[in-house]
Amino acid sequence: MNQFYSLRVKSVQEQTRDAIAISFEVDGDNQSRFRFKPGQHLTLKHQHEGEELRRCYSICSREGHEDLTIAVKRIHDGRFSNWVNDHLKPGDVLEVMPPQGVFFQQAEKLGGARYLGFAAGSGITPLLSIVKTLLASQPDASFTLVYGNRSWGQTMFADELADLKDAYPTRFQFVCIFSREQGESDILNGRLDEAKIRALLEHKLLSADVDHCFACGPEEMMNAVEGVLPEYGLARERVHTERFNTGPARPLSAEQRASRSQGEVSIILDGREMQIEVRPEDDSILDAALNAGADLPYACKGGVCATCKCKVVEGEVDMALNYSLEQDELDAGYVLSCQARPRNGVVRISFDD
Ligand SMILES: Cc1cc2nc3c(=O)[nH]c(=O)nc-3n(C[C@H](O)[C@H](O)[C@H](O)COP(=O)(O)OP(=O)(O)OC[C@H]3O[C@@H](n4cnc5c(N)ncnc54)[C@H](O)[C@@H]3O)c2cc1C
Ligand code: FES
Repeated sequence: MNQFYSLRVKSVQEQTRDAIAISFEVDGDNQSRFRFKPGQHLTLKHQHEGEELRRCYSICSREGHEDLTIAVKRIHDGRFSNWVNDHLKPGDVLEVMPPQGVFFQQAEKLGGARYLGFAAGSGITPLLSIVKTLLASQPDASFTLVYGNRSWGQTMFADELADLKDAYPTRFQFVCIFSREQGESDILNGRLDEAKIRALLEHKLLSADVDHCFACGPEEMMNAVEGVLPEYGLARERVHTERFNTGPARPLSAEQRASRSQGEVSIILDGREMQIEVRPEDDSILDAALNAGADLPYACKGGVCATCKCKVVEGEVDMALNYSLEQDELDAGYVLSCQARPRNGVVRISFDD
């Protein structure tokens, strides 16, 4: 499960001045390995100035019908995002982990036909996959997508989204919000924040009377969607969010570090079991295991991607952050090893469950 596979880049398309879409050639055994659900992401591995970088990118293709495609937007001073935007070309090979993530899983389980989505900037990628897949596979599905950007020129997948509007004129509503360009009306100008979401709902440009809402974008927008939609009647479990980052981690003081729990942890991976010691200076079970030479799956180390998910089969752990596991997964004993520390006594975790 912690394996990377070499995928050849089939095409690199410029999306905006700051973002490219990358499509991969997927053949042979990789066809089944890289089968994906809408809303899932790929983890890419890259050596950058002697350091191994792992980065997640959401798949933006329609399930089962299009080339496996991701899109990468430059982040100021970002190591990987700038490298791919500057250097990647068709024929290059990237190391890629098979699709992961559960952004769409809960909605699929609960079912429905009326959908609402909020995206900002590169947060469009998982939404695009979900929108295309639902509209094509569910003839009764309707989707309202609210997409915030600085301007039309900075809008990723602008042409594709406009084409979707033409292809599904009665089922796809596309609302663009621009912060640095005058839109069709005042309400469509500004940032996609809490005030804007409330205004769109109050002016009946949006309805919370939907079966599911999906959101992917900056923290401020996600918090607003999670807070406001339930106020307008949509059950919290029907508001699904995908986070790309959680901002820089707050450094701990020496006392805070010293007072952290410690203990022995047994790790089951690929049918084998190894013992490690988690000390106060280790940030998590994952960190302690990597320091001890274990090859465990991980990507963001920030509690957002769930690549490091494992099951606690004995004992108890505490998690610092969790932006990716659903309540039913927590109830079943799943945790994020990048955020977990042993509480006390013996702890056994399994990556094979
Ligand atoms: C599940 C998941 C899916 C993702 N999907 C996409 C996607 O489809 N397209 C895409 O472009 N990115 C996506 N990301 C973000 C991506 O993984 C990287 O974090 C991003 O490309 C920056 O990497 P970097 O190496 O260029 O920046 P780094 O060198 O890691 O960071 C440079 C600076 O930017 C800050 N930073 C890092 N990431 C972000 C961010 N997303 N927003 C604002 N500041 C940031 C860091 O705190 C640091 O200060 C996704 C992340 C996750 C967890
Ligand atoms: S490595 Fe991303 S949640 Fe743990």
